[in-house]
Parts: sequence; C-alpha cells; structure tokens
Amino acid sequence: MEHPLTPPPEAVLFDAYGTLFDVYSVGLLAEQLFAGQGQALALLWRDKQIDYTRLASMSGRYRPFWDLTRAGLRFAALKLGLALDRAAEDSLMNQYRHLSAFPENAEVLQALRTRGIRAGILSNGDPEMLAVAIRSAGLGDLIDPLLSAHSVQRFKTDPMVYQLGPTALGLPAKKILFVSSNGWDAVGATWFGYTTLWVNRAGGPLEQLDTVPTRIGSSLRDVLSFFPLT
Ligand code: LAC
Repeated sequence: MEHPLTPPPEAVLFDAYGTLFDVYSVGLLAEQLFAGQGQALALLWRDKQIDYTRLASMSGRYRPFWDLTRAGLRFAALKLGLALDRAAEDSLMNQYRHLSAFPENAEVLQALRTRGIRAGILSNGDPEMLAVAIRSAGLGDLIDPLLSAHSVQRFKTDPMVYQLGPTALGLPAKKILFVSSNGWDAVGATWFGYTTLWVNRAGGPLEQLDTVPTRIGSSLRDVLSFFPLT
C-alpha cells in the first residue's frame, strides 16, 4: 500500500475511454456479429480510432471523436475482411455510446467527494458522447468539470488539451492528479506536468519513452492511495 502524497493533489481528472468506460466491452456484440473475430475487431477498432485522432490533430484536420470512432470501425472491418453493413455499423456505434463502466468508478468518485476533492474528466471524446456515457453509467452527479478536447479542436497528447485542466480548475498541473489507463496518455500528461496515475488494468508494458508516471496501479481504487484517510 503506497503512502499518501504530501501534500496530496487538490483535484483529480480522469481520462474517459479505457479509464472509466471499457472500450473493449464492444467485443461481446462484435463477437455476436462476427463470430471468432469480435476481440480482434474491438482491439483494431480502438487502435485505429486513436491513430486517427493523432493524424487529425497533427495535420490540423480536427473531426469530432465520434466521427473518428466510426472511421476507425470501418477501417478495422475492412482490414479484417468483415462485411460491415449499415445495420451492424449502427449497432456497434450505438454500443460504443453506451460502453460498460468499470464497476469501481462510482465508489471511487464518491470517496473523492467525501474527501472534498473535485473530480472531473479530461477526454478526447466530444461533449455529446461523453454526456451520454456519463449519464448511462449513472455518474452524472459525481463528475465536475467535464473537459473535452473538442473545445480546442486538438487531441491528446497535444499540450493544448492537457492545458484545459489547469485552466478550468485554477490549479497548476502538478497539483492535479491525472488518471489514465492508456499508457501513452499517462506519459503525455506526465510530460505536461501533471501528477499522474497509470491504471495498468491490462498489465501491459510501460511505454519505453524514458518517462514513468508518478504511480502505476491496477484499478481505479489506487487513486485513493494519493490521499490521506479522512
Ligand atoms: C480519451 C481517450 C484517450 O477518453 O481514451 O481521451
């Protein structure tokens, strides 16, 4: 068990996709639609979605995360040779809108609230898709602020996106704990100056970029280790 940080962070910002919402929960429906290929489709879809955010951001050709998610799905299906008709595409996209939330989310957000710590989201997702995901996970009252890359028309790991946190919270990045399950996002946020937690749910390797997040955990509950018990 790690000790609380001294002083503890003054606010927490969570990444959304992969961190609060399980992007691979679409795999079940994908498996029903394309037997034997569900997991491969879910993995490739996610990779391509993130790939497209980087392409769009670096080339100054912003398109909302929702549109890039659809484009990523179409590419992944083509690559795997799957016949993705309109009905299958719409049902997978609809599933993406209502991704499963990780079971410990509400408990951790509630514990932060009890400690008087403000907890928000800083995500590549566009505001509409984030709002639906938060509502369907029943987290609506526990998230504040809700910060979207859409407002700067860039995607993480562009510093303009990470800057949304300090600006909205009126705190230096160091005093904000940024939490992500995406190793690359945890590295980007560490470079920016946040105190960071990489929730390494999948037990994957550390990004080999000579940067280590402040802490590495395995569940969202590890967020609470940064704070003294009340
Ligand atoms: C997000 C993506 C990176 O929510 O998962 O920002």
